[in-house]
Amino acid sequence: MTQHLTLPRPDDWHLHLRDGAMLDGIAPETARHFARAIIMPNLVPPVVTGAEAEAYRNRIRAATPESFTPLMTLYLTEATDPADVVAAHAAGIITAVKLYPAGATTNSASGVRDFDRVRAVLEAMAEAGIPLLCHGEVTDPEIDIFDREAVFIDRVLDPIRRATPGLRVVMEHITTADAVAYVRSQPEGLGATITTHHLVINRNHILVGGIKPHYYCLPVAKRETHRLALVEAASSGDARFFLGTDSAPHSDAAKESACGCAGCFTATNTMSILAQVFESAGALDKLAAFASQNGPRFYGLPENSATLTLQKSDRPVAYPAKIETGAGPVTVFDPGFPLYWRVLD
Ligand code: DOR
Ligand code: ZN
Repeated sequence: MTQHLTLPRPDDWHLHLRDGAMLDGIAPETARHFARAIIMPNLVPPVVTGAEAEAYRNRIRAATPESFTPLMTLYLTEATDPADVVAAHAAGIITAVKLYPAGATTNSASGVRDFDRVRAVLEAMAEAGIPLLCHGEVTDPEIDIFDREAVFIDRVLDPIRRATPGLRVVMEHITTADAVAYVRSQPEGLGATITTHHLVINRNHILVGGIKPHYYCLPVAKRETHRLALVEAASSGDARFFLGTDSAPHSDAAKESACGCAGCFTATNTMSILAQVFESAGALDKLAAFASQNGPRFYGLPENSATLTLQKSDRPVAYPAKIETGAGPVTVFDPGFPLYWRVLD
């Protein structure tokens, strides 16, 4: 018997679309299945003002169909003007502000070093109801890369939240049982996005049997126990956890290099992978909450009225191994198992 699953059209609450030829090449991959996406501002140079966000939004709109709505973010720096953030939000240009600890990841050099220097911006955001989206890793060289998320919770996230009550915060792309537990321990004002790839791979997938550059991302995938905690959180129906793919394209030349870039590109096959992961967890009925309902609820936006239907096939579903772009080929994330759920376009 053919199985179908119809969801409200999903949204991606954490996405990298880049710019120029890469944007043109990869944006249609997201717009095919998703209605809205929160767009990361870590361009070179970063999107730091409302005017820059508006110009970037126009470039994204030119590269995507009208059915797709980009929700813009600003890149928080120590020089960010609170008035500009509030005005951009009031004008409907931005939805949220992104915090990168300086040096944590791709194009984060202009991020925050001294958190006291962004206090006024955070207070203005709390007042105006603008969410703060955190790349949750410390950059202290003394801290092991596999511990950087857990340490961020204690050293940065919890102090910011205590100092700025009322600030709505999303801990982005969580990778640890520690983050799941912290989010669950907080009664309100804190959500977390979970990526597709962190539901599929653990650190062995990156390193055993040869180094796999297309599985390298930040925060780096952790032990299997952590992956299982993420699957449990995502498939629990708990409204604090929602999909943010962190689909982050880099050309194959930039990934397959002596110093490869961080990022997994999952836009093309995310919904097929998620259906499979949720089915394996015995939680297909929770996929709508994770991919389509919990995110809009956190952001105070309506659920999409359009829908998306997945169909289970007897034979594995084909998807391209690479997306060819004017900025070079981009390898599509390989979950390492065949996919049986097809999106009916
Ligand atoms: O893996 C990642 N890639 N993590 C990030 O935080 C940034 C992203 C990118 O922009 O490539
Ligand atoms: Zn990201």
